[in-house]
Amino acid sequence: MRYAAITGWGMAVPERVLTNADLERMVDTSDEWIVSRTGIRERRVVGPGDSTTSLAVAAARRAVERADLTADDLDLIIVATYTPDQFLVSQACLVQAQLGGTAGAFDLGAACSGFVYALSVGTQFVRTGCYERILVIGADTLTRLIDYTDRATCVLFGDGAGAVVLEATDQPRGLLSTVLGADGAGSEHLYIPGWATLVPESAPLVQDAPGTRPGLRMNGNEVFRFAVRVMGDAAADAVERAGLSFSDIDMLIPHQANLRIIDAAARQLDLPREKVWLNLDRYGNTSAASIPIALCEAEAAGALADGNNLVFVAFGGGLSWAAGVVRWGTEGVCRDRACWGAEAKAGADGPAA
Ligand code: COA
Repeated sequence: MRYAAITGWGMAVPERVLTNADLERMVDTSDEWIVSRTGIRERRVVGPGDSTTSLAVAAARRAVERADLTADDLDLIIVATYTPDQFLVSQACLVQAQLGGTAGAFDLGAACSGFVYALSVGTQFVRTGCYERILVIGADTLTRLIDYTDRATCVLFGDGAGAVVLEATDQPRGLLSTVLGADGAGSEHLYIPGWATLVPESAPLVQDAPGTRPGLRMNGNEVFRFAVRVMGDAAADAVERAGLSFSDIDMLIPHQANLRIIDAAARQLDLPREKVWLNLDRYGNTSAASIPIALCEAEAAGALADGNNLVFVAFGGGLSWAAGVVRWGTEGVCRDRACWGAEAKAGADGPAA
């Protein structure tokens, strides 16, 4: 059996901090309201020198270095984002332009569920034997599309990027189960108007009235209800599909959108708070970046041990959801470049039968 272990990881967030006290001066809100309804205290927002590309490249460099690889070693780069710096070319190609190499590169759009979707896609490429080394990035700079006169949305989001490197192993490491779902009928509850609808919706642009700028539109209550419904179910499904029980789970690493939503998911898995990795108080909701950033911080804090079973679970625009069990560690990964030729041969496309 082939698996796709996580052998490298890295994160990047902008330096600029936007606190709840800052927001109190911008809109009619309070630190007490934001903390009690969401758990968020501050978030990082892009400054003039930052972009989705700059954050994704910084996270990717750290992940590739941590895996002791170079960009030339990569077979594929997948970037999960819905805030790319350009429509053409893909965010993944913009990242590769700075990393180097000639790996295949494409973007994946599944909003805040994007990183788990991309992790599952990258894992399939490794597990089928098609590729050996894959870079998966979640990166978003949604604050560029936030209306900072709309208190219902501007308190929630921050910017950032996180990346992992996947490498083939014959040991059960990396993503062991996958649950992907979407309910397109709910798309009206969380969206950013596209090119076709942007012009009529925003002409003329009314900069000062909430909800009238081109940017994120959200029905918070509907999204909340949806998230509470799917997060726990998807996580539980992922555990079952991995052939495990809740007591086998060492850590829940959820999408960091709202503490009340995360608590509901943890309750369903019967997990105490200390087994739930939380950092939304410092970053808010960083969309596709939130799970890989949380993973990096959990690792840096010494909270992850070889063989630990982690549950990743996310929800977002689509409406979409995604979950999976990830077994931490790099057992069985060939660290000796001399064996790579043999590996590649074993994984190469065979002749048509
Ligand atoms: N500060 C102060 N008051 C605020 C506020 C803010 N930032 N935002 C909204 N309010 C007000 C509302 O206007 C409403 O006032 P009213 O009762 O006078 O009408 C009141 O607070 C309650 O609003 P409500 O929307 O019912 O609050 P809530 O408890 O549902 O929390 C969210 C709102 C947005 C925090 C919550 O619905 C949520 O987290 N939804 C999911 C959003 C999400 O995660 N999106 C990203 C998905 S990836």
